[in-house]
Amino acid sequence: MFPEGFKWGAASSAYQIEGAARTDGRGESVWDAFCQVPGKVHRGSNGDVACDHYHRMYEDVQMMKWMGLKAYRFSTSWSRVLPSGTGTINEKGLSFYDVLVDALLEAGIEPWLTLYHWDMPLDLQNRGGWMNPESPKWFADYAAIMTERLSDRVKHWITINEPQIFIGLGHREGTHAPGLKLPTRDWLLAGHHALMAHGATVQAIRAKAKRPLQVGWAPCARVDLPASMSPADIEAARQRFASVTSTDCWNNTWWADPVMLGHYPADGLAHFGADVPAFKSSDFDLIKQPIDFYGVNIYSGERYAADALGRPVHVPWPDGHPVTTFRWPVVPESLYWGPKFLHDRYKLPIVITENGLSNADWVAADGTVPDPQRIDFKAKYLGCLLQAARDGVAVQGYFHWSIFDNFEWAEGYEKRFGLIFVDYRTGQRIPKASAHWYRDVIAAKGKNIIPAAQLTHGPIGLKSGAASTKELV
Ligand code: FCB
Repeated sequence: MFPEGFKWGAASSAYQIEGAARTDGRGESVWDAFCQVPGKVHRGSNGDVACDHYHRMYEDVQMMKWMGLKAYRFSTSWSRVLPSGTGTINEKGLSFYDVLVDALLEAGIEPWLTLYHWDMPLDLQNRGGWMNPESPKWFADYAAIMTERLSDRVKHWITINEPQIFIGLGHREGTHAPGLKLPTRDWLLAGHHALMAHGATVQAIRAKAKRPLQVGWAPCARVDLPASMSPADIEAARQRFASVTSTDCWNNTWWADPVMLGHYPADGLAHFGADVPAFKSSDFDLIKQPIDFYGVNIYSGERYAADALGRPVHVPWPDGHPVTTFRWPVVPESLYWGPKFLHDRYKLPIVITENGLSNADWVAADGTVPDPQRIDFKAKYLGCLLQAARDGVAVQGYFHWSIFDNFEWAEGYEKRFGLIFVDYRTGQRIPKASAHWYRDVIAAKGKNIIPAAQLTHGPIGLKSGAASTKELV
């Protein structure tokens, strides 16, 4: 059984769904600018209209209500509220979120508000963005405004979404906004400021809260999982999960250890060596604020076995292993091991703030949108999450990514992640078969989800009588 009060949710983010990019005084963000750079976004698309959620908000909330969602995770657009990032508030922009929150509550849906889902105001980017040491204060000031206005009704707050991605792809690889390819030292500094911004924002939210509330964050997880249930493989995977293994952003602990433990991990410091900027120890007092839940975005994973010395060795997925249209391997066990390893290490309740898949969805001749792969994906992933809960991991909620098909960043509109199909020519929404299925799951409080260990064709390795590594390869 899923725990009492489990949050059955779905998620979105401002730039990916809102549209109305130049409406009601919204200022530009780095994504508006990035989309104009030729060759950066598939087919040259942008979020000018996206799902036009800004204008269709009531209709959209009614669909969420129909689905029975208990919680909806959305992000607020910093530059809609503060067109220049700091200074004068754009009342029309702020009141959009006010009205959205009321509409959700009216529909019996808890609002879960993310303050930063990658859309740095362009004016602040022109002042250095996350490279500017003032950025934590800019962000905390914006958070204070949002808390002041909404914390009488919004009880769940998320500071930043996936620093690994907005620093990694945005500041290191240049494939996401703001499109920078900074040297290691500089992106480490930008990342450090983002972590300080997280801490400063937790403080600001708590200082301005009008009611008791819960604060968390939403990094993504690189899920390294064991190739078998043997204790040696489990420990090897755990070790790898908690390691900085290369000089890129793609790890868990460089980001999470400062937030949860108050310092960067020793292996990361060794990897980055002389490139690590001289951080003040007081920075870590700011970064490490008590938070209430560990939000995490999980989509996939890679498996590892122990070598003779117990070190993790990658065991690639075999030929023909299922993948999504993003070519991400389908790995339900990631929703068992990811939450488990995080819970064991950081001892906080876990909320799955994103999980889902891009799929080849289209409208069938009868007008419906059948997406059996999404249903099977969710049944298996949720089965693993349920298994984790059964095995003692405190799991508080699950947010499907995404409620709607939407603007998938550099992929434009090609990748469809939604429970609800969006026809971008007309704006028409059609609940996919998976939306109907999820509705039934929510109504049954997840009682129709089969725990992974009992699935016949289920996730490898979680069955009792664990398979050996050899059988799995
Ligand atoms: C995550 C992002 C989200 C969406 C999904 C597919 O990395 O947080 O906005 O793009 O991936």
